[in-house]
Amino acid sequence: MFFQSDNWAGVHPSIAANLSKAGEGFAAAYGNSDADRTVLDLFSEVFERDVSVYFVGTGTAANSLALAAIQRPGGAVFSHCEAHVIEDECGAPDFFSGMRMAPVAGRAGRIELDLLSKAMGAYPQDAVHHGRSAGVTITQATEMGTVYSLDQISALSEVARSHNVPVHMDGARFANALVSLDTSPAEMTWRRGVDLLSFGATKNGCWCAEAIVCFNQDLAADLAFIQKRSAQLFSKSRFVAAQFEAYFADGLWLALARHANRMADQLRERLTAADMRLAWPTTTNEVFAILPKRVAGTALGRGAHFYEWPVPSFLQGEVAEKETLARFVTSFATTDAHVDELLEALKA
Ligand SMILES: Cc1ncc(COP(=O)(O)O)c(C=O)c1O
Repeated sequence: MFFQSDNWAGVHPSIAANLSKAGEGFAAAYGNSDADRTVLDLFSEVFERDVSVYFVGTGTAANSLALAAIQRPGGAVFSHCEAHVIEDECGAPDFFSGMRMAPVAGRAGRIELDLLSKAMGAYPQDAVHHGRSAGVTITQATEMGTVYSLDQISALSEVARSHNVPVHMDGARFANALVSLDTSPAEMTWRRGVDLLSFGATKNGCWCAEAIVCFNQDLAADLAFIQKRSAQLFSKSRFVAAQFEAYFADGLWLALARHANRMADQLRERLTAADMRLAWPTTTNEVFAILPKRVAGTALGRGAHFYEWPVPSFLQGEVAEKETLARFVTSFATTDAHVDELLEALKA
């Protein structure tokens, strides 16, 4: 009954097998092996254009170094006020980029367009005392299990363009968003104005595989140096490559995300059927429910694992004193039986 996060799941057997296979023999280090090159080509195939790719060890590193690549002195990067880059990365994006993350509100994890325009308007390019706009970062899927529609991504990108700054996407759950929208990687990113992507695979079946994917060659110029200076250039990067190779093979990554999303669909249906209240609609692998504290406490006591989540700003007042907000995350490893067990524990 492990619903805390998708990174509590293990590694998919095909990915583990490819990792073991990569352990045989010798290969060139620091990104120069055949496996590394194969995977760089795979990324270009997946995104339908030439891309620059930099492997890193964590999602936090991907976000921080991507934002370091758009660094401007006195820069402000606009992000949703409850985004991972602001709330859960210990200031790493600010530290590595030397810029500040500027919060913008919005319902259910999505930056509100008008509020973004207003916030960026307060940071014009000549505001020496205040600081200047330097980028926009959006999370897809969002921290709240929702997704930006393709048109919403385009609209946010246009606001960024009107201020002459690039757009970064935190794709820790990129695959879950992609299959939820039933679209292509190209359509969800560069065709909609995204310049840089943190491409996460760890949460969706890999052991440890994250990458910065750069669509804008001007921004890629410094990334190799940023990666090395931040101690993220792995000598045995072929083991990260081996994970990505298996991840992309025969569309495994999409199948795993579809499964995780389907498990979340099932959980939503079962919670609703049991008269439990969903906090807001989600379409990926995260489900949020408002539960009586007594119900959550009993379920936790019976071995259900999930987090009680801070109530986001847009939901203030909707969670009563005797209630709690529970977050359930499904993964490639979640089974029907796990959902059954969770429901039993909640109903108990
Ligand atoms: C939306 C989002 N971005 C980034 C990360 C960062 O990942 P990591 O814990 O690997 O640094 C997470 C992890 O939970 C996340 O949920």
